[in-house]
Amino acid sequence: MLTVALSKGRLLEPTVEFLARAGIHVPEEILSSRRLIASDADARYRFLLVKPMDLPTYVEYGVAAAGICGRDVLLEVSPDLHQPLDLGFGRCRIVLAGNPSPAAGGRNMLSTTRVATKYPQVAERYFRSRGIPVEVVYLSGSVELAPNLGLADTIVDLVETGRTLKENGLEVLEEITESSARVVVNRACFHVLHEPVQEFLRTLRRALE
Ligand code: PRP
Repeated sequence: MLTVALSKGRLLEPTVEFLARAGIHVPEEILSSRRLIASDADARYRFLLVKPMDLPTYVEYGVAAAGICGRDVLLEVSPDLHQPLDLGFGRCRIVLAGNPSPAAGGRNMLSTTRVATKYPQVAERYFRSRGIPVEVVYLSGSVELAPNLGLADTIVDLVETGRTLKENGLEVLEEITESSARVVVNRACFHVLHEPVQEFLRTLRRALE
């Protein structure tokens, strides 16, 4: 049996739909109850439901042999994992966003800017690569509140439909990168569980064709 970690939240529904198309059925009990672990009817797969940012940890430690998470998470956590497949769904962007009309006269590029984000590493790298001094304020959600309340000048966050930004009076200032759902595999399991891992990947590839 292969243990596969699935991301809770926005990726869960498209992940379950994609797996069903591939002929892998995530048991209903894990979707409609508070159970966080369950096996499929054929006992071929055991699924864990985990927080997206924790998923690489479960796979790195080998608790799950494989997992499906967003590229955004991989960019933030930088785990030491195989990343054999881009599944194409869950497309979104990581952007720098803020108020449409910054203070008149523009910003002094030498003064430290403050950014609020769920992605501190991504934000830090982005500003460092531009040589802009930055103070990163970590938030775990509702990041769009920060600029309007004076907690930060800008945010680095995910944008899918753009609705959250719009409804909070913010706009995209710059696109940092793109994200979609990725398959990750533990490096040791890739060899030790070679056949079940390869069978899992073959099954997913067929569903992508
Ligand atoms: C994400 C992201 C944005 C929103 C973007 O948050 O952090 O807030 O979705 O989606 P949109 O462009 O389609 O509006 P999520 O829904 O995961 O909730 P959170 O703020 O609690 O992290």
